[in-house]
Amino acid sequence: MRRAVYPGSFDPITNGHLDIIKRASKIFDEVIVVVLVNVDKKGLFPVDERVKLIEKSIVQYANVRVAGFNGLLIDFMKKNDSKVIIKGLRAVSDFEYEFQMALMNNKLDSSIETLFMMTNAEYSYLSSSSVKQVAKFGGCIKGLVPDVILGDVMNKIME
Ligand code: PNS
Repeated sequence: MRRAVYPGSFDPITNGHLDIIKRASKIFDEVIVVVLVNVDKKGLFPVDERVKLIEKSIVQYANVRVAGFNGLLIDFMKKNDSKVIIKGLRAVSDFEYEFQMALMNNKLDSSIETLFMMTNAEYSYLSSSSVKQVAKFGGCIKGLVPDVILGDVMNKIME
């Protein structure tokens, strides 16, 4: 079975992430979306809530599942018997950061490959951080995150 892992902070999942999930689900037999801790980012949603938001957003993809994991990505890969990491690239500015992570993961486990998918041009400007900023200051985030989680995101921002 060709199984890939799509890791990220997903704080929260955006339509850009969902587009990568949809495209990866057509290439692999199974895609596992995993919410991990990025030590450089202060999260808004706790990991279990991020997982629930992703669960709601992926119901239409039968071969996609989601998990939360507190640890190294390569340990999650081993536990789930996968050798392929999927990452989305939006712009040249993403490249250095992603390149570093891909090399680090490969250094930790040389059997792991990172595959990059170019983002859909429609979402190249989109990030979880910008969604949070727009929502916080009263802007409209419809079309930026999956419709099924719009209410959850707004409620969290208003807390
Ligand atoms: O969506 P992000 O924040 O760019 O995702 C980064 C993430 C969460 C995938 C990365 O920080 C990560 O893999 N964290 C888990 C710890 C780990 O394995 N670090 C080694 C790679 S530098």
